[in-house]
Amino acid sequence: MQGKITVRDFIKKKGKEKIAMVTAYDYAFAKLVDAAGVDAILVGDSAAMVVHGFPSTIPIDMDTMLLHVSSVARAKPRALVIGDMPFLSYEVSVEEAVRNAGLMLKAGADAVKLEGGAEQAEKIEAMVKAGIPVMGHIGLTPQRYLVLGGYRRRGKKLGEAEKIIEDAKALEEAGVFAIVIEFTAVEVAKIITEEVSIPTICIGSGPYCDGQVLVLHDLLGINEQVPPFAKKYADLHGIVIEAVKNYVMEVKNSLFPGEEHYFHMKGEDYRELVKKLGRQDEKR
Ligand code: KIV
Repeated sequence: MQGKITVRDFIKKKGKEKIAMVTAYDYAFAKLVDAAGVDAILVGDSAAMVVHGFPSTIPIDMDTMLLHVSSVARAKPRALVIGDMPFLSYEVSVEEAVRNAGLMLKAGADAVKLEGGAEQAEKIEAMVKAGIPVMGHIGLTPQRYLVLGGYRRRGKKLGEAEKIIEDAKALEEAGVFAIVIEFTAVEVAKIITEEVSIPTICIGSGPYCDGQVLVLHDLLGINEQVPPFAKKYADLHGIVIEAVKNYVMEVKNSLFPGEEHYFHMKGEDYRELVKKLGRQDEKR
């Protein structure tokens, strides 16, 4: 296997091989997904929902995201590590956007991702000028679900499809190295993929993108409910419940721990201890 995947390697995959990206939020899972051979790990703000139990991605803040990014980075993955900019970390001003994106790199990310189209161009240009690789994210942008009217399909109608294509072009022009296209009509994702020179990464937008991304908890079946576009490759929900049920049963029935899970005092010392305490020399 080759060494660390760089942004340059990532871009060069377009048209040559499909890109597999997945989210991870901590050291342990970063090690696992990296061992499985993913090209990129997205430390997504989806952590708000799948790790922290919030109803949307809005509540997660920079400090929490930086903790997740540094945890993933400590796994020293071969995969490209992308830190997701949380809501309100890049909207207020160009300065704040650059500073916060820089903190992601300091925490160990190789690049950042932010949501939005043409309206983000100025911030993306400033970040790239500062030496920060940026991934765009268009179509369904979950941080804007309130103005979008929910987590709905995007690009089904002409006007919306045209706007998403324009956004993709504006992002490329601003200097992003790749674009996530979420929950968008397959035709729109295909046109964008053909019209931009950088990789497109689909989630719920069909097979024609240069790569795919899934939320790890959906892929592993940790949550019972998954979005319609996600595919469960395992049923960790069932496996975890079954394993912990067995543990509970064994504790309740004194079956755990077994001989192999504990150790004894030295015989002589035990006998002396028992004598000192005035106890019977109980069989061990
Ligand atoms: O936060 C996330 O997991 C994402 C993916 C859905 C692309 O942004």
